Amino acid sequence: MRIDIISAVPSLLESPFNDSILKRAKEKKLVEIKIHNLRDYSTNKQKSIDDYAFGGGAGMVLSIEPFAKCINQLKENRNYDEVIFMTPDGEKLKQSDANQLSLNKNIIILCGHYKGIDQRIRDYLITKEISIGDYVLSGGELPAAVLCDAIIRLIPGVLNNETSALTDSFQDDLLAPPVYTRPAKFNDWEVPEILTSGNLKAIENWREEKAIENTKKRRPDLGENKK
Ligand code: ADE
Repeated sequence: MRIDIISAVPSLLESPFNDSILKRAKEKKLVEIKIHNLRDYSTNKQKSIDDYAFGGGAGMVLSIEPFAKCINQLKENRNYDEVIFMTPDGEKLKQSDANQLSLNKNIIILCGHYKGIDQRIRDYLITKEISIGDYVLSGGELPAAVLCDAIIRLIPGVLNNETSALTDSFQDDLLAPPVYTRPAKFNDWEVPEILTSGNLKAIENWREEKAIENTKKRRPDLGENKK
């Protein structure tokens, strides 16, 4: 899979892709991530990427030309499944969206600034608008990193134990059951006895019960509890 990210602040995206699972995914060539500095696509001598808002008002607006130039250049070389704009008024990201997007071959992600991107980019250049939650961040870079993480960890071969992505919370509209590791007793706090019993069937049943219990208690809106 290839992901192209277009950003006015590309340095914000350096660290998320250079550590841990995402770094390994890149090294294993399971994903290729290209970050494009919007400024490199400026179409004027001043190398500007924004301008005053028509009609007045505070704040600068990111211009359509550099985004259009970058997207058009990318599209000359490959077909893109989606051109996604990260925005707090987009559709709220769910696990099922990440599952769907992880099946794509090529995607472009645009990072903007809330209230600060020419509306025509949204109207004519993108195929999807995604929010990572009902709160406003300073730009789309951190949301883009969140989206990429959610997608990339689902690509077969990225996680060591492939089944672990399938047993994540939300995959089946259930939250995950609790997990424990050694020591079995710390202070007076003991691990549930069943987990050290060696009875695999009983452990599986216990985990399922706990997942259902957790979901009913914390997220009654999910899955079969949904009305
Ligand atoms: N840009 C700023 N805030 C955002 C959010 N919550 N989701 C996606 N993009 C954003």
